Amino acid sequence: MVDLSADLGFIKLKNPVIPASGTFGYGEEFQTFFDLDILGAFVLKGIYKNPRPGNIPPRLHETAAGLLNSIGLAGPGAEELVNIIKRVAGITHTPVVVNVCGEDDEEYLEVAQIFDALDEVAMLELNISCPNVRAGGKCPAQDGQHTYRLVKLIKQNTVKPLIVKLSPNVKDIVSIALSAEEAGADALSLVNAYLGLAVNLKSRAPVFRNVFAGLSGPAIKPLALKLVYEVARQVAVPVIGIGGITCGGDVLEFILAGASAVQTGTVNMVEPAASVRILHEIETQMQELQIKNLEEIRGELKI
Ligand SMILES: Cc1cc2nc3c(=O)[nH]c(=O)nc-3n(C[C@H](O)[C@H](O)[C@H](O)COP(=O)(O)O)c2cc1C
Repeated sequence: MVDLSADLGFIKLKNPVIPASGTFGYGEEFQTFFDLDILGAFVLKGIYKNPRPGNIPPRLHETAAGLLNSIGLAGPGAEELVNIIKRVAGITHTPVVVNVCGEDDEEYLEVAQIFDALDEVAMLELNISCPNVRAGGKCPAQDGQHTYRLVKLIKQNTVKPLIVKLSPNVKDIVSIALSAEEAGADALSLVNAYLGLAVNLKSRAPVFRNVFAGLSGPAIKPLALKLVYEVARQVAVPVIGIGGITCGGDVLEFILAGASAVQTGTVNMVEPAASVRILHEIETQMQELQIKNLEEIRGELKI
């Protein structure tokens, strides 16, 4: 028997597998594929105060080993998400994480406070790293001072645990991570999608109207693993590793690099029941490698 639990300090999850924002709908869409109770937690699609149509298509483009997306954070708005969350709470006891978005600091705070007040929500994840909202992929997570200011504002005015989701599209992710930690982040999740470019040969134009789009999937795994390793050894708060995870072995690699738990993204879009397989693989591999629990190997990469 192996112990799959993942300890984030402020919450103990039954296992480290957390479907990532934007790749798992609002959870309920996946209940026909498997019982949501098997998950460590799950993150809902990012939400703003008001409904948003998102970007004009095309929004998805497959690459050799990944996916480019330019969804533009489409969503029903905070009021409707509250109704959805109440419905989802009726089908699972798994902790629900709300991915909080905002056009400016005031909106981030307003949205965070709405879900902070909701008993059915376990944690907030501050999405300061979406590459698809502004042309050129600009976001608060590219600026240490903005990250600090925003995280502090949210922490001072909410009580639920706050995960801050970082962008890989920066020169020095460790300094941004330290800014978020200093401002009071309870955990860091990394990474959001990498900026990439797809070209339409016939039109000689970019595939996406925003020119750049967010690259995710297996293509980014080694890049994300590197950033998780670099950040996890510099911060005291738990790190949630994200990027290209497709199997149980990938999860254990992220834990060895220093992550306390992981989020699985694009794999859910390719294989909706991937979580079931990944959980089974983690257990089998831990047995094979004689790992009793995740803490035993967390950050134990031998350099
Ligand atoms: C279609 C799509 C939509 C996404 N929407 C969000 C979102 O709303 N909020 C967010 O923080 N990240 C969003 N992401 C980023 C993922 O949560 C994750 O960080 C990224 O895809 C890397 O993980 P992966 O390689 O396992 O997919 C989205 C990713 C994809 C592919």
